[in-house]
Amino acid sequence: MNDTFLRACMGEKVRPVPVWIMRQAGRYLPDYQKVRGTTDFLTLCKTPELAAKVTIQPVDVLGVDAAILFSDILIPVEAIGTGLAFSEGRGPVLSPPVTTDAAIKRLHAIEPEKDVPFVLETIRILRKELKNKVPLIGFAGAPFTLATYMIEGGSSKNFVNTKKMMYETPAVFNRLMNLLTDVTASYLLAQIKAGAQAIQLFDTWAGILSGPDYEKCVLPYVQRIMDSIKQTGTPCIYFVLDGGHLFEKIKLARADVIGLDWRTEIEDALKRLGPVTVQGNLDPCALFLPEEGLKGRVDEILRQGGLARSHIFNLGHGVLPEVPYQKVKLLVDLVHKLSA
Ligand code: CP3
Repeated sequence: MNDTFLRACMGEKVRPVPVWIMRQAGRYLPDYQKVRGTTDFLTLCKTPELAAKVTIQPVDVLGVDAAILFSDILIPVEAIGTGLAFSEGRGPVLSPPVTTDAAIKRLHAIEPEKDVPFVLETIRILRKELKNKVPLIGFAGAPFTLATYMIEGGSSKNFVNTKKMMYETPAVFNRLMNLLTDVTASYLLAQIKAGAQAIQLFDTWAGILSGPDYEKCVLPYVQRIMDSIKQTGTPCIYFVLDGGHLFEKIKLARADVIGLDWRTEIEDALKRLGPVTVQGNLDPCALFLPEEGLKGRVDEILRQGGLARSHIFNLGHGVLPEVPYQKVKLLVDLVHKLSA
């Protein structure tokens, strides 16, 4: 079994440095496009045989050190009663947007085996088919990031409605966050029970908040989720996009691994995080560099990652559909070769 990823999660310095890629199963990959050509995205997420198939594709094509469940952070949001659609070019659409107490009261708690059986079945198939070749990462969106999609009705530029609810009706916002915290914790525990060997909690949009707002409106909920996962002994990665101004507070979330985007260099992040395990942090657009330039960037990230307690190589955000998959494979090979 290739357990370099899990050992690094637990704080062990591992050589070669393990690498996986956020959104590694996705539109940049011709094999994914082939499957996606036969079905829409949500149906793909809800068909365990197909979801398992596209999960394994990047393991075979790229040689990454971990597989990540193919699904979406918005799947449990749909399962508790919010309409979800993915429209070409517009991203996710949630309807109706959740902006009032009455709308929150119409949502319900999650019973994973009943509400999202396809996710758990995908995990069970994957553990069989991966045959311990690489570990399987499960994931969820963190409550605040899920709340932004629900309140805004989809992606947003400045998150006005989210902040409006936070400031105007804090009790309503708190009720939504409490619900999403319970949903996320149950959902992740069910994934672990089905066979997920590590967890990544995506808090993509928490970086839009100031330090004090993050500390009051995000951190306590994330801590509650971490505490319930910790009881299982399963390592958890916590990723915030554009979270540089929050490092001291993100550390308090008590994740085993802190995911970094490309905006802060690992060396600088560690000065504020202390000797933690980090994941990251190549700019996804660095994959457009010629090979020599890419090699230089990888070398430097590996050097800085060496300063951390341990390091898992990844991009600083998801791989872009415009990137040639051969370049992603080259990246994985470079990480392995340069850190051997
Ligand atoms: O990493 C992986 O390979 C696992 C699968 C995965 C997907 N989404 C598949 C996906 C994971 C872990 C996610 C997480 C996710 N989804 C996040 C957090 C991470 C991040 O990117 O910040 C967020 C914010 C979402 C919500 C979401 N899903 C958006 C905004 C979009 C539309 C944008 C886009 O890239 O099209 C999606 C769709 C989506 N999720 C696709 C995939 C492969 C593309 C769907 C397609 O095939 O058309």
